[in-house]
Amino acid sequence: MKIIGTGSAIPSKVVTNDMLSEFLDTSDEWIVPRTGIKSRHVISSEELEDLGIEACRKALDMSGLGPQDIDYFICSNVVNEYATPGLSCVIGAGLGLQCPCIDINCACPGFIYAMDIAEAQYRAGRVKNVLIVCCEEPTRMCDWTDRSTSVLFGDGAGAAVLTAGDNIKGISLHCEPAPDKIWQKRLMQPTPYITKEEHETPLQMKGREVFKFAVNASTRDVEALLKSVGMSKEDVSFYMVHQANARIIDAIKQYLEEPDGKFPSNIADHGNSSSASCPILLDECNRKGLFKKGDILVFSAFGAGLLSGAAIVEW
Ligand code: UT7
Repeated sequence: MKIIGTGSAIPSKVVTNDMLSEFLDTSDEWIVPRTGIKSRHVISSEELEDLGIEACRKALDMSGLGPQDIDYFICSNVVNEYATPGLSCVIGAGLGLQCPCIDINCACPGFIYAMDIAEAQYRAGRVKNVLIVCCEEPTRMCDWTDRSTSVLFGDGAGAAVLTAGDNIKGISLHCEPAPDKIWQKRLMQPTPYITKEEHETPLQMKGREVFKFAVNASTRDVEALLKSVGMSKEDVSFYMVHQANARIIDAIKQYLEEPDGKFPSNIADHGNSSSASCPILLDECNRKGLFKKGDILVFSAFGAGLLSGAAIVEW
């Protein structure tokens, strides 16, 4: 397939590090050097599905396709208010889609997992045009009295339209199952028969272990994928790395021995927006005119699961 449209939508509320230090024992001096985050967009009055709809509309406008042209719609999301129907159906209704709508919960690498599904459907001859949206509100997963998690995240949606083409040069997906490294539990409705004890738990993360996993997984995925398609680092124009932490991106950069200029970043203004991070970055760079035809973009993302993935896309 090839990407023919991108879009993004972010909440209007901007929360700076100084605003967080008004109610948390934290500071700009701690957050910036450890994460690279200066501010983040946080959902206040918006509905998540409206951000998803806006991102999709922008991507569709750019692609020149309409909702009636879409054969398959994938929504990547970790948490939203609807247990059912899937967020893809809620957003699909807002867009007027009439195609199959599926949700995936693959955490931060969700955009890459969604591209893999799209490419597989296309290669099977089942679809021509696929719309992907990654729509996330991780700020609603955190305990906002916990400074170790709540300072890291931001909300938003990023979308892409894919159509027939030969521009996805390779995708690799990995899992090192470890559900105790990043997790959150919600309470379900009680029944008269439940005898076990159940608790609600806000987002928990073993930050240092996840940091190491992220750097190892990303460098391994990127090097192995490039090799498997017969490409080298010299062929890569840009690394579109999940915006979780500027130090993770720096470590990947150093390990790959690649220059700063190949790593576009927006973490300073967005924080970690889970699976929305890669497509928001893609849309911002695309609309700034950063990419030219033939450029090679290497996506790499990692997160809860622990899942990781990489993709090579020719622009
Ligand atoms: O998208 C999912 C992927 N997630 C990630 O990629 C996150 C990966 N992990 C990280 O980015 C880093 O581990 C963090 C940014 C989360 C934490 O940085 P760290 O350098 O690993 O710090 P730490 O957790 O080891 O904490 C060091 C100290 C602790 O204090 P003590 O115990 O040394 O007194 C923490 O309590 O920093 C303290 N601390 C804070 N202090 C001020 C933790 N969070 C904060 C904070 N403000 N926000």
